[in-house]
Amino acid sequence: MNSQLAPLSPSTLTERHYEMLVQAVVDYAIFMLDPAGYVVSWNAGASRIKGYDASEAIGQHLSMFYTDEDRGAGKPEYLLGRAMREGRAQDEGWRVRKDGTRFWALVVIDAIRNEQGDIIGLAKITRDITDRHEAEGRYDALRAQLFQAQKLEALGQLSGGMAHDFNNLLTIILSAAKLASRTTDPARLASLLDNIQTAGERGAQMTRNLLTFARSEPKLCCQVNLNELLDAAATFISQALPKHMSLHMQVADDLHPVQLDPSELEMALLNLILNARDAMSGSGVVRLEASNQRLNGDVAGLQGEFVLITVTDQGCGIDPAIRARLFEPFFTTKEIGKGTGLGLSQVYGFARQAGGSVQIDSAAGQGTTMQLYLPACSTQAADTQE
Ligand SMILES: Nc1ncnc2c1ncn2[C@@H]1O[C@H](COP(=O)(O)OP(=O)(O)O)[C@@H](O)[C@H]1O
Ligand SMILES: [Mg+2]
Repeated sequence: MNSQLAPLSPSTLTERHYEMLVQAVVDYAIFMLDPAGYVVSWNAGASRIKGYDASEAIGQHLSMFYTDEDRGAGKPEYLLGRAMREGRAQDEGWRVRKDGTRFWALVVIDAIRNEQGDIIGLAKITRDITDRHEAEGRYDALRAQLFQAQKLEALGQLSGGMAHDFNNLLTIILSAAKLASRTTDPARLASLLDNIQTAGERGAQMTRNLLTFARSEPKLCCQVNLNELLDAAATFISQALPKHMSLHMQVADDLHPVQLDPSELEMALLNLILNARDAMSGSGVVRLEASNQRLNGDVAGLQGEFVLITVTDQGCGIDPAIRARLFEPFFTTKEIGKGTGLGLSQVYGFARQAGGSVQIDSAAGQGTTMQLYLPACSTQAADTQE
């Protein structure tokens, strides 16, 4: 400690004290830039994080700390310009240390003004959050793996149901071909060939649906028209239901557009329908309904414009004792081979990722309604509020 300085108290805090404080911080790189982006001060944190000592860093342009790609793309100038114009710029991305290694940085640049309001420099604070960034990467990888596992399970279930449908189609084709080979009546021959063609086309459509579903990759967020998606999904999803079960759709016109990954939504719907199927003993109606809703914090604290999609069954219902565990990955009450316990954890993860929520409304023996709330795209929500 400098012996010339008085002990700290609010009235004796001097510029020098602040400078010492900034200098002493080692977890954050704190330094000043002139308005052109050249380094004018450098603290201990900056030396520790970036590897340059003050004598090497002062006088250098901030672009020195960026990767070649970012420099090429003009990122340092862009961030500087933004801080000058708007008073502040934030960024997250790779930066380069003196020894050439990279770290993942969280950066804030603030414009500093004098009493007249002119910008006299910029304060830049950088944190090394490489650990957190890597942990997030691992989490994403895990989620992608779970999604993949879940998809395989759902595909298995779907194709089990579809194998049955394929067999029916093959029976139609084979018996029509056999009859056609024996008939001499041209009109009957034409009608039998027609049957064969229709059955073949249906089979081809089923395979196409299955392949589209198998191929679609997760994590492609885009604006989705739910009316179109639900329409297309309905044909596909109803194939998961056995003969004596039917899917009733009730979808409001003009559902708000939503921002999400359509393949994850299809997957979530399929999971809910498969659960409804399993809860009912082979016959009955599964209802899929969708409508726009405005929320005021009463559902999971959500506020604003949402689309509510519900899947309702008349099945066995859910025992309150297991309610709390339903969204856990691998939690299942089904026999081995019948369930993996990944369905609702996918639905939950998807809903959270999309900024929405899943709610369960069920009583043992009374059936179940699963409610999926998905936020409307912000532009749309703003429009409706006006
Ligand atoms: N519609 C429903 N009716 C009754 N129980 C349900 C329903 N949906 C989910 N469950 C219960 O939640 C559990 C977890 O569901 P899920 O995560 O989809 O895994 P899985 O279907 O593979 O068992 C199921 O095993 C079942 O006990
Ligand atoms: Mg399931």
